[in-house]
Amino acid sequence: MRRGRFTRIRKILPITALIGFLLPIDCWAGSGIDASEIKLHIDSQASGPTINSNIFGQFVEHLGANVYGGIWVGPDSPIPNVRGIRSDVVAALKHIKVPNVRWPGGCYAEEYHWRKGIGATDQRPETINIAWGNVVETNAFGTHEFFDFIDQIGSEAFLNINVGSGTVQEATEWLEYITGSGSTTLARERKANGHAEPWKVQFLGIGNESWACGGAMSAETYIALMKRYAMFVRNLHPEQMAPNRFVSSKSPMIRIAVGPGEGFEDYTEEVMKAWKTHDNRWNIEGLSLHRYTMGPRGAMRDPGTDFGEADYAAFIENTYAMEAFIDKHIAIMDKYDPQNEVLLAVDEWGTWLQPMADTNMLFLKQQNSLRDAVVAAIHLNMFVRKANRIRLANIAQLANVLQAMILTEDEKMLLTPTYHIFEMYVPFQNAQALPVTLEQGQYQFENIMLPQVDGIAAKSKDGHLYLALTNIDAHRVAAVSTNIDGFKPSLATGHVLTAPGVDTVNTFENPDAVVPVAVTVPAESGKLILHLPPRSVTVVRMQ
Ligand code: AHR
Repeated sequence: MRRGRFTRIRKILPITALIGFLLPIDCWAGSGIDASEIKLHIDSQASGPTINSNIFGQFVEHLGANVYGGIWVGPDSPIPNVRGIRSDVVAALKHIKVPNVRWPGGCYAEEYHWRKGIGATDQRPETINIAWGNVVETNAFGTHEFFDFIDQIGSEAFLNINVGSGTVQEATEWLEYITGSGSTTLARERKANGHAEPWKVQFLGIGNESWACGGAMSAETYIALMKRYAMFVRNLHPEQMAPNRFVSSKSPMIRIAVGPGEGFEDYTEEVMKAWKTHDNRWNIEGLSLHRYTMGPRGAMRDPGTDFGEADYAAFIENTYAMEAFIDKHIAIMDKYDPQNEVLLAVDEWGTWLQPMADTNMLFLKQQNSLRDAVVAAIHLNMFVRKANRIRLANIAQLANVLQAMILTEDEKMLLTPTYHIFEMYVPFQNAQALPVTLEQGQYQFENIMLPQVDGIAAKSKDGHLYLALTNIDAHRVAAVSTNIDGFKPSLATGHVLTAPGVDTVNTFENPDAVVPVAVTVPAESGKLILHLPPRSVTVVRMQ
């Protein structure tokens, strides 16, 4: 897993961060270090749902420096690139095995007209990106460049079509252009533009936040429109096309209807009610849910750097409010769909902070600290706990926007603490979730009460048992003693991510302030005791 350029195993262990791993549990008594004991039980033979790798999806919107600068530099750039796509970013993303990429928005998708982004680059119209800062959009990154990008990183396409300001015909023709084989005029146009083979489209978002930037529609208006898109926007790829219009494909494109956001919650009930009565002329396979993590000051006001424990605890509290939000909407879905046929796509999630100083505030460029890493781990854990229903998720967003994996500045690139969580969680992709009984302990800051430890367990495809444990407490070590039915480990090996402060960030001057450090923990008589440092995320494999 950790070879080559993206190897992040540190040679020197920062003693303050890792002292928890170095002492046996009985040494804590009288050591002066405050450790709480936590018991964890796993049944290694239990059968849980598969953790769909698509919950580790990414989101690329034409917003700020996500596409232009973050991914696309153009073929003539001095920054190393392949056909205009920066090579450092591609290498970093290949390493974390990005399963799918949602594009071109977001709100921008609802203003996007695909024909402006095909053909000779110098002939493409320049337009204004009204959604994000009224800046000029060159359309240099269009359909061919997007598919080239996901091919280079080995990922699948999640296209979000324009329902708000587009037409059913426009979306139908876009899908035909992308997926059509044979000799239709649109397939020939794609070939003439340089790509003979059709591309696959794994996921199709039918609109984005149609209750707000996607057209400010009532649920009723949206549903009437959504049915027409679901009926007519067809995937013609030979491996995805339905045999006829009354029978679905064996490998269908997953169509995702707009679902809830905070303050717009009626969509879940109304869309699911409509789905319940669908017939074989239209269908959807997914429902979207958007929610961002914010602190006490609200969107764009909470600092991303130089904050204290109060802000840290408030963000973690708000992360658990996400779990309550998801549970509420899953309960509505369960009512109409007890068999989990319709997946819940959490296709926008992450922290929304104050923009970095001296940046355009509508570019949403924010720093990313150890706190973001903890928030990311707790989100991924909650998706795993609901793996039956949540089979797709997309963190917002990939580069230079919101809770990004990657920050760039001209030729420089850095990996954020959140990137390292996605790196550490790779073994959970398509693994089998195992039920975990965890005494979570308690972390209290003023009047905020939180669990101290959050964790998941899974059996990977090659049969190994993995644990991911987050110690939320900003000060106390958690001594987690494991009791695993059906398996006696002799050793656990893996990585821990922590830092001197909850607000520690990676910068271009110090890009490795928050990086995973290798750990090895021997077991005694089949029992492991993992000492989790304060404010840390640990992923280990049992041997
Ligand atoms: O991710 C930024 C924006 O947040 C998206 O464009 C929109 O869908 C959401 O409101």
